[in-house]
Parts: sequence; structure tokens; C-alpha cells
Amino acid sequence: MTKKKMELIKFIISLLVLFCVVSPSNGSTVNPHNSHSRVKAVNLGGWLVTEGWIKPSLFDGIPNKDFLDGTGLQFKSVTTKKYLCAELGGGSIIVANRSEASGWEAFKLWRINESIFNFRVFNNQFVGLKGNGVDVVAESNEPGRSETFQIVRKSDDLNRVRIKAPNGFFLQASFHFFRNLAKTEELVTADYAAGNGTAWGDDDPSVFVVKTSGKLEGEFQVTNGYGPHKAPQVMSEHWRTYIVEEDFKFMSKNGLNAVRIPVGWWIASDPSPPKPYVGGSLRALDNAFLWAEKYGLKIIIDLHAAPDSQNGWEHSASRDGSVKWGKTDDNICQTVAVIEFLTARYAKSPSLYAVELINEPRAPYVTLEELNKYYKAGYDAVRKHSSTAYVVFSNRIGDIDTRELFAVARGLSRVVIDVHYYNLFVDIFNDMTVQQNIDFVHTNRTQQLNYVTTSNGPLTFVGEWVAEWQVKDASKEELQRFGKAQLEVYGRASFGWAYWCLKNVNNHWSMEWMIKNGYIKL
Ligand SMILES: *[C@@H]1O[C@H](CO)[C@@H](O)[C@H](O)[C@H]1NC(C)=O
Ligand SMILES: *[C@@H]1O[C@H](CO)[C@@H](O)[C@H](O)[C@H]1NC(C)=O
Ligand SMILES: *[C@@H]1O[C@H](CO)[C@@H](O)[C@H](O)[C@H]1NC(C)=O
Ligand SMILES: *[C@@H]1O[C@H](CO)[C@@H](O)[C@H](O)[C@H]1NC(C)=O
Repeated sequence: MTKKKMELIKFIISLLVLFCVVSPSNGSTVNPHNSHSRVKAVNLGGWLVTEGWIKPSLFDGIPNKDFLDGTGLQFKSVTTKKYLCAELGGGSIIVANRSEASGWEAFKLWRINESIFNFRVFNNQFVGLKGNGVDVVAESNEPGRSETFQIVRKSDDLNRVRIKAPNGFFLQASFHFFRNLAKTEELVTADYAAGNGTAWGDDDPSVFVVKTSGKLEGEFQVTNGYGPHKAPQVMSEHWRTYIVEEDFKFMSKNGLNAVRIPVGWWIASDPSPPKPYVGGSLRALDNAFLWAEKYGLKIIIDLHAAPDSQNGWEHSASRDGSVKWGKTDDNICQTVAVIEFLTARYAKSPSLYAVELINEPRAPYVTLEELNKYYKAGYDAVRKHSSTAYVVFSNRIGDIDTRELFAVARGLSRVVIDVHYYNLFVDIFNDMTVQQNIDFVHTNRTQQLNYVTTSNGPLTFVGEWVAEWQVKDASKEELQRFGKAQLEVYGRASFGWAYWCLKNVNNHWSMEWMIKNGYIKL
């Protein structure tokens, strides 16, 4: 009874508050510091921007799915036991004289199809044949015919490979005796005759053992991996089934009032985006708006993947880990156009609550100057179509002053700074106990949040957090306490918070699972 009464009183208060907030008669604007309007959201991660770890089965049907764009391969010659290496990291010859493998010995794949590839070296050149057609170098900045290789795998031992060069010969690592030098050098040449065949033995200089060093499983990888015929089918099935109307009902019933929806830049050229991306994600986003309207949820559109990648991670749809976003005016204009397209499309929806201009630009690759230029233009693009949508500026990831965006935000209205708080990814969390993790949230996150939350500055948004940590075998009760501490602290962010994410094969990363199993209660 008393609980019911309390609910009723709360309801009446919220109605009153709502009335004051939206009533145009007294000319007041929304009070952004009103806690009732704070966002309690979940991220629809892994839906319109692919992340393999969230739903690994999405990659199951890809042939040679361990050789995707951006995968780093290290090749060890079975005869010399040495690794292939781009001398000086690139811009020079390929050698085969390294006993250990790290960055210069890793060759990042650009996948043409399941067996044809380009190899990108540490300094970003591509491996190719020199003019004489035999020497192997890493000199070209663009892959062409001379930079295109076939990888042939041993059928019953996929880690044994041969690499066929565009001249029809296989690469081989062989000892060369130099004119006056007593020592031998291991060079790589493309002159092992293809017709000779192989028994794949340790005596064959064209055979290498391959090892993977780093991989990406993002939207570029999944669409290019399936290729132009299968990708449209696989992706539309994923978009149609992964997030459905029932999920919006679930969110609204369980105390959430908003969703943050990561999207990729290609959505603006739906239905025929540049290859390898495929059309259809825009229709999925349209559905999200319909469902959000039906169940009274707000939407924060989040440009998670910007053209040329703003952070090199798979969730920015990077092809091979390089970060090129923001380096040209064209690229910035293209990104602003995506923001304008999305705002214009949804400005009339009562559910459009905020537009986040870019997710996690990474310092120092993206400079503050580049970002400020973009944020100014992106803000104007949103304002052209909406005077009410909040505009979210994501802080850079990296070693930065978390107030660095205050200057560009000054004088703009309804601007929000997005910060992401994970007790993960940084060494300091490796050996923390349960209590230390919780104390860190209460003490250090509070300090950090207080520092960016100022009375007349931009609003603050903890746009990503999760009740996951490095603690092994934590009990349910311990995880509940950890989640509760975060809800309490991040609940003080003046704009609100968003959990990462709604669904995930890793249970703690799935807010749906956490709610259904009683780990999190709102
Ligand atoms: C590998 O070979 C290159 C080219 O001859 C040489 O410059 C380099 O010093 C060699 N490195 C090692 C570790 O032997
Ligand atoms: C891959 O591309 C090459 C060159 O275009 C072609 O010959 C080959 O048939 C293709 N392989 C597959 C499996 O599509
Ligand atoms: C491959 O066979 C050709 C003859 O067809 C021969 O000249 C060449 O030496 C052989 N190469 C190797 C590496 O065995
Ligand atoms: C957390 O904050 C406390 C108090 O300011 C400080 O002593 C401690 O070093 C911080 N912990 C970490 C891991 O940064």
C-alpha cells in the first residue's frame, strides 16, 4: 500500500515537473540539471555497428574467417626458422632474418577475397614486387597488381602456408652469400616455381608457419569477409533479428528511459553505401524510432564509426587499425554531412533526444584542433534542423585534460560532454580487489566526474560503463554492489548515463541478462 502511494506521489511530482519543464507559457527552457530528466540508458552496441566479441556467431559463415582485414600475420620460415620482416618497418626490403616477431614482423591483411590479399607493413606501405619482378619490398603506398598475393594453406594444417606472388612464383626465404662478406643473409625472393608442388616439409623454403598477432572484427571485416553477394543477406538478417520491438518494451518496463544507438557513417548513403558496407541499417534505425516513440524512450544517436576511423578500433569500422579521420577538410565535411542527414531525418520525432557527433576520438592521433573544428561544424549541422536536440561531444580517449572541450562548448546551448568509465583496459585495475574496485568508483570516479561537471559548463554524460571488472570469480552479491556503486556515482552525471550494452554473449556486458538475473535493478 505505502509503496503504491509513494509511486503515486512520485508520479504526480513527475507530472508537475514535466509540466514546468515543457510549458512554453512561462518561456522557461528545460532545466537540464533537473534529475528527473536525466538519461538512464543502455547502448544498443553490436547492432548497427558490428563488434565480433559481442556476437561472434555473426562471423561463422565467413570462409577463412581468421584472415580478415586488419589481421596481423607473422610468417616463420620452416627452413631458416626466421620471421619475415619489413626492414626498418617499411619503405625498404622484406628480409627473413628475425628470430623474434613483433611489430615490424607483422603484416596486416587487406582482404580482396578469401585467398587473395595485400599485406600492409608497420609504416603502412604495402608488400610488393620490385621492378625486377623477383625482389620483395614494402615501398608502395597504394596496393596494385604488384602488391596482390595469394595465400595457400595446407589443407590439414591451416597454419602452414605458401604465398604466391603476382608473377606466379611463390615467395621463398633463402640464404644468400654476399660478394665479400663471410656471413649469410636471409633474403626473400619471389622465385620459387609454382609448378614444383610441395610436400609441405621443413625442407621447403616456400613454406611458412603463420601466427596471428592482433585482429579486428568490425563492420568492415564482416561485410568484406562475406563479400558483396552474401553480406547484404547476412547483415539484414542480423539487423532484423538482433534488436526487436520487444527489446524496447523490455527497456521501458525496467526503468530505462533512453537508448544510445551506435551507427556508422555509411548509414547516410543507404541503400547503396560504398563497398564493402551494405544497405539496410537505415531502415533498422527507422524502426528503432518507431518503437522508441511507442514505448516512450528517448534516442541518442551516436556516430560510432566515422570515415577513415577516429580511433583504429574495430568499433569505428577501422580496416586495419590506422586512424585517418580528421586529417582533411573533405573528411570532416563528409562527417558533418552524415550528422546533418541523421538530424534532418529524425528531427520531427519526439524521441530524438541527442546527437553524439563522434564516439571516442583517440588522442594523440586525433588532435584537439581537428576535433574542435569538427565539433563547431557538427553542432551547427544539428542546429540547422533541431533547436532542442542535445549535442554530445565525446571526450578524446587518451592522456588529456577532461575539460579540454569546454572552450569549444562555451556559448553553445544544450551541449553535453561524454566520458566513458570502465574499470578495465588499464593496468591499475589488474590486481584490484572487489572493495578496491568499489572504492575506486566512489572516490576516483566521483572526483573525475566532479571535475567535468560544472555549474555553468556543458552537461556530463557517462555514455559507457559496465558492471565488469578484472576480479576473477566474483560472487553475484559482489557484482551487485559494484553495479550499485556505479549507478549511484554515474547517476550524478548531469545528463545521465548509458550501460554498455543491451545484449552480449558475455553476460556481465549484457544489461538484459543483468536485469533478468537480478544483478542490476533500477
Ligand atoms: C637483416 O638483414 C638486413 C638486410 O641485409 C640487415 O640490414 C639487418 O641488420 C639484418 N638484421 C638482423 C637482425 O640480422
Ligand atoms: C579471388 O580473386 C581471384 C582474382 O580475382 C580469382 O581468380 C579467384 O577466383 C577468387 N577466389 C574466390 C574464392 O572468389
Ligand atoms: C622447380 O622446378 C624447376 C624446373 O621445373 C627447377 O628449375 C627449379 O630449380 C625448381 N625449384 C625448386 C626451388 O625446387
Ligand atoms: C584514487 O583517489 C585517491 C584519493 O585521491 C588517490 O589517493 C588514489 O591514488 C587514486 N587511485 C588511483 C588508482 O588512481
